[in-house]
Amino acid sequence: MLYITIRGGVTAMYRSRMGGGRPDPSVLGYLSSAGADSEIIAYDIVGSQAHVLMLLKTGAVPRRAARRILDALQELKSSGGSLPAADADDPAEDVHELVESLVVKRAGMDAGGRMHTARSRNDQVSLDTRMKVRDDINAMCGHLLDAADLMVSLAHEHRRTVMPLYTHLQQAQVGLFSHWLLAHADALFRDYGRLSDAYARVNKSPLGAGPVGGTSIRIDRDYAARLLGFDGIVENSLDATGTRDFAVEYMAAVSIMMSNLSRLAEDLVVWSTSEFSFVELADDLASPSSAMPQKKNPDVLEITRAKAAEAAGSLSAILGMVTGLASGYGRDLQQTKPLVWSASRTGISALLAVRSALRGIRVDVARMRRVTDASDLVALDLAERLVTERDVPFRVAHGVAAGLAQYARVAGTSVRKLSIQDVRNAAQQQKGAGQVADAETLHGIASSLGAVASLRSRASKGSSGYAEQRRMIAGRRRLAAKLRAKLGARTERVEDALALLEGEARSA
Ligand code: ARG
Repeated sequence: MLYITIRGGVTAMYRSRMGGGRPDPSVLGYLSSAGADSEIIAYDIVGSQAHVLMLLKTGAVPRRAARRILDALQELKSSGGSLPAADADDPAEDVHELVESLVVKRAGMDAGGRMHTARSRNDQVSLDTRMKVRDDINAMCGHLLDAADLMVSLAHEHRRTVMPLYTHLQQAQVGLFSHWLLAHADALFRDYGRLSDAYARVNKSPLGAGPVGGTSIRIDRDYAARLLGFDGIVENSLDATGTRDFAVEYMAAVSIMMSNLSRLAEDLVVWSTSEFSFVELADDLASPSSAMPQKKNPDVLEITRAKAAEAAGSLSAILGMVTGLASGYGRDLQQTKPLVWSASRTGISALLAVRSALRGIRVDVARMRRVTDASDLVALDLAERLVTERDVPFRVAHGVAAGLAQYARVAGTSVRKLSIQDVRNAAQQQKGAGQVADAETLHGIASSLGAVASLRSRASKGSSGYAEQRRMIAGRRRLAAKLRAKLGARTERVEDALALLEGEARSA
């Protein structure tokens, strides 16, 4: 991590107004955001470049001074991300103080002292945070699409892999592994949508709002916003400096994504137990027990579950910080930053981990099929056949199917394997069953039931049916490609603006 400190003297810039006294070092450390600010140094410098170019354009700063400031900023930019460390006795309070101090030191007070014209740390910190969050959203969306792409191609691979579908973690209906994968891919697509919706509100510039109420100096906020690749400004200066709702929204989207990933993780944890043995994790992603040689623990999935809880905790913390806070900047807002950074780290690393877990997974197709065939998951199909083929009211058909399933269970067999006599006996035990269909017909239907037949006949939109899986896989492929193109364009807009800004900063 970047260590942000600066040699004595220069950092007294802000504190000199307070009579020169310095707080106790432990209190200074308590107040400082230098640690968290290491993530936004680059944004602070770029934001300062845009601000100075804007001041130059409006005539608020003369060209000579602007040139000197821009040169100093360029020098800081090319310092490879590590700004001069210095005397630990006199650390800068935050990145804004640090960058300004370094500029004043290089450009001199007459030039460097003009950089902070018509802005404040309050609009600066919001600017830096927004620039980082928009980059993080774009990076996360890229990883998210990578994960979704993998799920969709695995779905294609497993479009015929039969498995039980569960409700209440009890076997419910015959399904396909592709259906499960597509369900989680769809959750990720919604997460993509939430992050992109947040992006639209994040990508607005607060720069030039000043401390809270604006400035008398002639500035052009829209111009600075354009230079930085923003889609407009946060207009109201009080709102621009005081709000962190954009960060809360981002963290909420990350938290929801984490909770979605945690459910995928939990399914795989359960399915990788010896009792299920539906899937096996790649060796490099599971870890052995220190004591029990036979064990293979699904650590990467368990960590994903726990990190989802952490993300929810951070979301709750940031909401707590902004709830009931008086309008305008309050120092409380400083503490939102590490929470936001950690949401980004958690979200991105979870997407990478889940993708690795899925990539290396071994699916026991035969076992999934055996387990599906061994249980009466086709009881509902029986009832539906009676509805469609015999025009039986569903409630009545349900009763007949339940009777046969119950009979089969007691007899230790399955509905499909009942003999005609079994069906007759079952019908006798159940009043009314005989009126629905004769034993031969019922037996004919029951014995023709099966996983494959079930999935062939499953026709409703979004179902586990084979045809629907094919349609959905193709649809998700198109969706992923479309989103990727959109993301590319969105990312490019920012990159292009920043490249232009860099050129202007050099040639001004
Ligand atoms: N370090 C502060 C933060 O991270 C920067 C803004 C300070 N503004 C102020 N008025 N003290 O939020």
